[in-house]
Amino acid sequence: MGPISGNRVEIEQKTGKYKLRRPGFAGLTWEDMERLERLVEKGLRLSGLYRIGFQNLFDLRIERVEIAFERLPEAFDGLRVLWLSDFHIEPLEGLPEALIKAVEPLDFDIAVLGGDCAFHYDLTEKAVEQMWKIAKPLLKRVLVYGILGNHDRYEMGRILENWGVQMLVNEYCRLERDGQCVYLAGVDDCHYYRGDDLEAALAGIPNDCFKILLSHSPEIVNKTDGYLFDLCLCGHTHGGQVCLPNGFPPVTCSSVSRRFAKGLWKKGGMIGYTSRGLGVSGISVRFFCPPEITLLTLRKK
Ligand SMILES: [Fe+2]
Repeated sequence: MGPISGNRVEIEQKTGKYKLRRPGFAGLTWEDMERLERLVEKGLRLSGLYRIGFQNLFDLRIERVEIAFERLPEAFDGLRVLWLSDFHIEPLEGLPEALIKAVEPLDFDIAVLGGDCAFHYDLTEKAVEQMWKIAKPLLKRVLVYGILGNHDRYEMGRILENWGVQMLVNEYCRLERDGQCVYLAGVDDCHYYRGDDLEAALAGIPNDCFKILLSHSPEIVNKTDGYLFDLCLCGHTHGGQVCLPNGFPPVTCSSVSRRFAKGLWKKGGMIGYTSRGLGVSGISVRFFCPPEITLLTLRKK
């Protein structure tokens, strides 16, 4: 795991919930409006909608996504990547078991954990215990890689790494097949901690190689121009978590366009995919936005 960034040190040393002002209305985003959030939760409970929204958290969907690339080396044609993000796992009793059961029949070559293991900003024993239930069976099957999200303490990354997950925090790893290679480059969270360092993550990767960027938040797209990434995998937005019946996400908790909030998107020559994630933050409900297990297959064009 890469060295902890200055921003992370500063924020992690503060006690209690930290605040970082991000671009938004008067410097505020939904994440800063806790009172309004509690009011909405009260309304949902009174109306009976909370129960339905909570049940929706367990309606796991497997999204099979195939993407073709001209630059993909022949040997990696058909590479299957299991992309799991935004677990927010400690309050969701039964989710690790449901997730592992859903993943069991799937075939994949590598698994990548996209960050936000925790629900609370402080690391809890419960989060570690629940994440172990997910990581253990995956590690038995394939190589597992991971990045940190805005709900993860740096220590969470250390714990995952001790279990055998290769954490990519502003660093890369090289996958090899038949003498050909692709690179996975991961950055630290760019949403709260602003610990992302693309230069460090890429240092040493030849420019003409196939590169996959792993970033918890799609907000990284503000910085990727000129880096020649082929694919970018993200989470963080939960796909909106609470959407309108047509799937429109009123809140994405990110400072980039809604076109990056879920599913496939493109930015310059880079193809991206944002998962709706598995867990939730804020109010524990989902509407018109089911949790997602993503199975990506990379194809040679
Ligand atoms: Fe999240």
